[in-house]
Amino acid sequence: MIKLNKIKIKPDIYWVGGIDWKLRNFHGYSTNRGTTYNAYLIIDKKITLIDTVKHYLFDEMLSRIKAIVNPKKIEYIVSNHVEMDHSGSIPKILKYAPNVKIITSTRGEKGLLRHYKKDIDFQVVKSGETLNIGKRTLHFVHIPMVHWPDSMVTYIPNDKLLIPNDAFGQHIASDERFDDEIDWGILREEAAKYYGNIVMPYGDQVVNALKVVLKLDIDMIAPSHGVIWRSHIPKILKEYKKWATYTAEKKALIIYDSMWGSTEKIACSLQEGLTETGIKVTMRNLSSSNISDIITEVQDSKLILLGSPTLNNGMMPSMGGFLTYLKGLQPRNRIGFVFGSYGWGGQAVGEIEKIIKDLSWDMPFDSINLNYIPDEEELIKVKDIGKKIGNYLKKLGR
Ligand code: FEO
Repeated sequence: MIKLNKIKIKPDIYWVGGIDWKLRNFHGYSTNRGTTYNAYLIIDKKITLIDTVKHYLFDEMLSRIKAIVNPKKIEYIVSNHVEMDHSGSIPKILKYAPNVKIITSTRGEKGLLRHYKKDIDFQVVKSGETLNIGKRTLHFVHIPMVHWPDSMVTYIPNDKLLIPNDAFGQHIASDERFDDEIDWGILREEAAKYYGNIVMPYGDQVVNALKVVLKLDIDMIAPSHGVIWRSHIPKILKEYKKWATYTAEKKALIIYDSMWGSTEKIACSLQEGLTETGIKVTMRNLSSSNISDIITEVQDSKLILLGSPTLNNGMMPSMGGFLTYLKGLQPRNRIGFVFGSYGWGGQAVGEIEKIIKDLSWDMPFDSINLNYIPDEEELIKVKDIGKKIGNYLKKLGR
């Protein structure tokens, strides 16, 4: 590999990550802009590497490290999170830095042993513990479930630097390293998608983590994916507070699939009615949209309308797959509405209702379930229902 340039983020602290330009699917999450795996090298009395990269980008990380220091001199690797996009290069770097000690949480130690089954020299740190590496003292705070039970953050007060691993990440592959080098709209969109698809189930834990973060003196947040925050920290903290408390805009999102167009006609009539009330509406067809993109919109929308025709005594598999994913992410405080069409049977609507109940969403309106092809008169009634739902949404408090 060619020699790579040093990328300094603070005095004696370098970004030594890998850029995954080609990645378009991260176990089902559509990474339309690729991603990065960020690792950070601290040059101090005890040279310390914070996290590593996915295994196939090891050579890139190694080359970046070699541009700064002989890897043999690394004494500590902080493993903030076991998931393999961050720990995957630990076994490889150990060959170059055989005397390294791995600093991690108790669950991190267990997880790393289960992944790599190696004779690794661990130093387990409790939440609140510190480690002096020379001029700097690293502070470790456990943030379980943001993203796995082992997750922790590393805070370096001397540099006002927080390294929170998955938290505040975005899947963006770029040669820009900082938030002010990328358009805020793109950054916000990718940070929202990341939160929605990775962190959403753990809102309560994020609220607790934010309480800790807000007390710290920080001028830089260096996550494990995407760009580093230095100019938009207040803005991203504000977004995180909103997402962590499941706060949504008074917007409507229609998610549906259709076999012969009947459910789609209902979806379009609902959209017409909602739009007439001034409510902003987005429609997503499950055959043409990726579920991870739809989740970003679920995160932003208070009203979620779900539609499927009945197929083989149940809902369409595209809706079944989406709802399985949705149930896992557990978005809260939403209003649900269900619609569909059928030839006989008509079970899809009831199945979707059951999942909405499981999610504890409000369902203030009766579902629509129409036989075969809705006629003009029925579609006018559907539109009127759309208007009623829209007006209900407008009157709601936040
Ligand atoms: Fe980026 Fe949970 O790993």
